Amino acid sequence: MLLSGKTMIVTGGNSGIGEAVVLAAAAEGANVVIDYVANPDETDTIISRVEAAGGHAVGIKADVSKTDDLRAMIDTAVQNFGQLDVIVNNAGIETRTSILETTEDDYDRVLDVNLKSAFFGTQLAAQRFIEQGTGGLVINISSVHEDWPMPGNVAYCVSKGGTRMLTRTAGVELGPHGVRVVNVAPGAVATPINTETLNDPEKLKELNDSIPLGRVAEASEIADVVVFLASGKAGYMTATTVVVDGGIMQGSVGL
Ligand code: BGC
Repeated sequence: MLLSGKTMIVTGGNSGIGEAVVLAAAAEGANVVIDYVANPDETDTIISRVEAAGGHAVGIKADVSKTDDLRAMIDTAVQNFGQLDVIVNNAGIETRTSILETTEDDYDRVLDVNLKSAFFGTQLAAQRFIEQGTGGLVINISSVHEDWPMPGNVAYCVSKGGTRMLTRTAGVELGPHGVRVVNVAPGAVATPINTETLNDPEKLKELNDSIPLGRVAEASEIADVVVFLASGKAGYMTATTVVVDGGIMQGSVGL
């Protein structure tokens, strides 16, 4: 198995891409810590599925926008599984508001949950990796919108643009410590963040038509890339972004 004996934290791990990463990593032998803020029952269901398949997972309720909660999350990994090897900073939200309508509260929530969490998740995990003397890996789940404007979702784009520079700069700073930092940038994925579009046949068709591969991704297709990055097969990758978008960012398909 690709991740035997490795311990991985997944923030926002009880839904969407996070849930898919938990299931894929556990299936490859990782011990997984599932961070969540809501729906504890869903976390329990995921843990049961992992355990039924012979894997190991624990849950922790932690608000990733607070450093005390991030510390508790890392302590949970170490207490349960002995050490930490990978953190996947996945938790994310969007408000779908334009520059003219975004409130201070919208802005703060999006930046705190998406970017502050990844910044301090990276810092605290890296401190832990260095203390352990093991090296380690940070995977930030970014978005094509780290680089590609999305009108009507400006705070989200700002947070993901920040994640891009976090990954590049932290990757450079932490490389000498044996700590790698990589972004995964999904395009449109069938997850709760896109519920509105997925439930609107016209919008969904328009979205699918704008994707060269002709369809939105399944969360498992993003999770498979995360597993590859966390495996020994991606050991030379750092300070960069892996785009997993079906080609959406390259512009629309011809008429
Ligand atoms: C956003 C989605 C959007 C997708 C493709 C994602 O990062 O969360 O709302 O549909 O990018 O544009």
